[in-house]
Amino acid sequence: MTRRPIGIIVNGVTGRMGYRQHLVRSLLAIREQGGVALPDGTRIWPELVLVGRNEDKLREIAQRHGLTDWTTDLSAALAREDVEIYFDAQVTQQREKAIRQAIEAGKHIYTEKPLAEETEAALDLARVADAAGVRTGVVQDKLFLPGLRKLKRLIDGGFFGRILSVRGEFGYWVFEGDWQPAQRPSWNYRSEDGGGIVVDMFPHWHYVLEELFGPVQAVSTVIATHVPERVDEAGRAYPATADDAAYGIFELAGGVIAQLNSSWCVRVNRDELVEFQVDGTEGSAVAGLRNCKIQHRAVTPKPVWNPDLPVTENFRAQWTDVPDNEEFDNGFKVQWEAYLRHVVAGEPFRWDFLAGARGVQLAELGLLSAREGRRVEIPELSR
Ligand SMILES: NC(=O)c1ccc[n+]([C@@H]2O[C@H](COP(=O)([O-])OP(=O)(O)OC[C@H]3O[C@@H](n4cnc5c(N)ncnc54)[C@H](O)[C@@H]3O)[C@@H](O)[C@H]2O)c1
Repeated sequence: MTRRPIGIIVNGVTGRMGYRQHLVRSLLAIREQGGVALPDGTRIWPELVLVGRNEDKLREIAQRHGLTDWTTDLSAALAREDVEIYFDAQVTQQREKAIRQAIEAGKHIYTEKPLAEETEAALDLARVADAAGVRTGVVQDKLFLPGLRKLKRLIDGGFFGRILSVRGEFGYWVFEGDWQPAQRPSWNYRSEDGGGIVVDMFPHWHYVLEELFGPVQAVSTVIATHVPERVDEAGRAYPATADDAAYGIFELAGGVIAQLNSSWCVRVNRDELVEFQVDGTEGSAVAGLRNCKIQHRAVTPKPVWNPDLPVTENFRAQWTDVPDNEEFDNGFKVQWEAYLRHVVAGEPFRWDFLAGARGVQLAELGLLSAREGRRVEIPELSR
């Protein structure tokens, strides 16, 4: 067995996503399974260089996982010849600058979403990366969730007939930080620090809608900052300047209407933290992160509206679970494996910077729609 080592900078490894999903659940898990296998039997072997701002935290993470390569000097890490990939899971605002530096250093780049804060900047990154001939990728983890994979399977198998609409509910209560600490970093609630639920979630909705149901052609959004003051990690009260809820309608090519609510100010009365109900002429489905249940037209009950009578049926019990039929691995890891095969073996990988820029565009135009109180069409983005 030939091992093909590949040096990867992991920047932002002390953060929530950088540590848990990318370092532990993806890159270290790939090493634990013996690397990523190529058709010729070669195994791609990630060699990690942890990068961050805080020496103590980096040292502690490195020691915890038996790693030895870490630095607070990004430029020095980028200058290394044995490093081929730059990965970014920093706060969104720091991303563009670091990625530009990595492109200049000739590294391939994989990054968390959103690619940048503005469409123009994201598109420019795509162009500059193309010109430099480096291979790019943006995290689109939701596509690899078991629930959405089952939904895709239903679509591909023609279960729905003609799809009419998609209703999505995403969210949970994020504590304000006063009497219980918040479970998300405070920068998420400050627009001046790159926060806001539209910037956070619309890039996800873009690729989910496009890959499952069709390209997004227009967006109408209402946003709110329902909780105007929060308390940060240091216990200081701060004004929440960013949107913490977004109510969006997305019109898709082919006529499907998607209506997605995203909120950090909602208490969960669902089976999962995100759920999409898809209604089609032949059947309907409700998909979450892991599960997916269906109801076919042949078994659809016939409710009659009569508020004078108590509910006669248990509607939730009338749905059938879609079986797994395969093993689902962690979505972040599956996408990492695909990206590594893309870099090393040239396998196709469609979730590149242009795809990332289109996600940023949907967020930007969603915010424009909210600001101006109108429906906004989404122009095609090209290199
Ligand atoms: N794919 C997903 O499902 C998903 C989910 C959550 C967040 N994200 C994205 O991941 C990125 C990181 O989010 P997170 O929730 O892990 O955030 P976090 O606050 O937990 O981590 C941020 C990281 O950036 C570093 N950083 C660098 N410069 C900084 C600065 N000036 N101020 C603060 N931190 C700085 C921090 O040290 C830390 O390592 C964001 O871009 C976010 O949009 C993606």
